[in-house]
Amino acid sequence: MALLTAPFYTLFKKAESNFAIQNFTFAKKLFMAQFKNFKMVSYVVYGRGSFNQLNEILEPQRKTGAPMIFLVDHFFQKKPMLNRIPLRNNDKIIFADVSYEPKTSYVDAISKQLKDEFGTVSGIIGIGGGSTMDLAKAVSLMMNNPGSSADYQGWDLVKNPGVYKAGIPTLSGTGAEVSRTCVLTGPTKKLGMNSDFTPFDQIVLDPELAANAPVNQRFYTGMDCYIHCIESLQGTYLNEFSKSYGEKALELCRYVFLEKENWDNECDDKLMMASYAGGMSIAYSQVGVAHAVSYGLSYLLGTRHGIDIPQGICKGLSDEQFDIMINVSLGMKPLWENAVGKDWEKIMTREKLRRLYEKL
Ligand SMILES: NC(=O)c1ccc[n+]([C@@H]2O[C@H](COP(=O)([O-])OP(=O)(O)OC[C@H]3O[C@@H](n4cnc5c(N)ncnc54)[C@H](O)[C@@H]3O)[C@@H](O)[C@H]2O)c1
Ligand SMILES: [Fe+2]
Repeated sequence: MALLTAPFYTLFKKAESNFAIQNFTFAKKLFMAQFKNFKMVSYVVYGRGSFNQLNEILEPQRKTGAPMIFLVDHFFQKKPMLNRIPLRNNDKIIFADVSYEPKTSYVDAISKQLKDEFGTVSGIIGIGGGSTMDLAKAVSLMMNNPGSSADYQGWDLVKNPGVYKAGIPTLSGTGAEVSRTCVLTGPTKKLGMNSDFTPFDQIVLDPELAANAPVNQRFYTGMDCYIHCIESLQGTYLNEFSKSYGEKALELCRYVFLEKENWDNECDDKLMMASYAGGMSIAYSQVGVAHAVSYGLSYLLGTRHGIDIPQGICKGLSDEQFDIMINVSLGMKPLWENAVGKDWEKIMTREKLRRLYEKL
């Protein structure tokens, strides 16, 4: 066997050192990588009242002695919805403080607390807006990965699958329920843990849960979806997969925001599906300039999405502070490439981005 393979091995080595072959292999890899093998959410339930099915959905996922952890948006503290959470045995509710967008330190603290208290858990169930869902995804991953969540901010750095995780949106728009990322602000960057292990195992889309959101909150989270659609549909990464979802999501957003006189159940129903479809659209393409620029702003200044457009937020910032924002923003390479094409680095220079920030 060895005798037979040795000459082939030598030949292979020679060939490997040959530039032409190396380039061929590289080109082949690139070609193959052009088609994203998209990891989707495993189970989806949709409909008014589908939240009532949570107990039977979770039942097969329960492991003896290991609790289900319900990470619930702090908005629901003392709200009737809490009584509908199917708590069993040593299950626990943790209220997610989403006054600030999720930080890596917060994710690390929750996962440490759970490991100290229970060793392992059956699952993490995130109930809330995009912030709570992102927290749930991140905590699930950190239950099975060593170190800090900050070590995994980037693309495909997560090594092990997390514990079972489910997402239950109570606001519609971010698409966090379907995405392969969870956006976190860390010590050096604001960036998600993008990986095939990140999408939820289960999502429960029950528009009833979004019914009491204040009108402003609804609008600006809905606008996130609208911007996802625009950035996906106008981007260079666009393909029919993304377009099909993006166009549908945009149609639903326009109907809700432009054609409806009053906010009713139909609006919540449609916006929840718009969020889902918008998320699917960007999952197979990318977002663009608005998101890339906003990552810099929110990293340095904590600027959140909003409908009151703030003025003069970059006034009086030092060169160093501008550089921090520019570094964070230009670090989002796929977003820029999607927005302005392969030559984006020549088009969106540091100087141009600085001038853009100075205007805000
Ligand atoms: N993972 C992704 O793909 C992705 C995509 C876009 C945005 N995000 C992240 O999502 C976050 C923004 O999420 P969001 O816009 O959904 O808001 P949010 O989760 O930050 O919540 C905003 C506010 O609404 C409250 N809230 C939530 N549900 C409510 C309800 N039903 N009624 C009343 N109030 C309610 C919350 O307590 C909070 O005060 C950001 O952290 C952003 O980075 C993630
Ligand atoms: Fe967004």
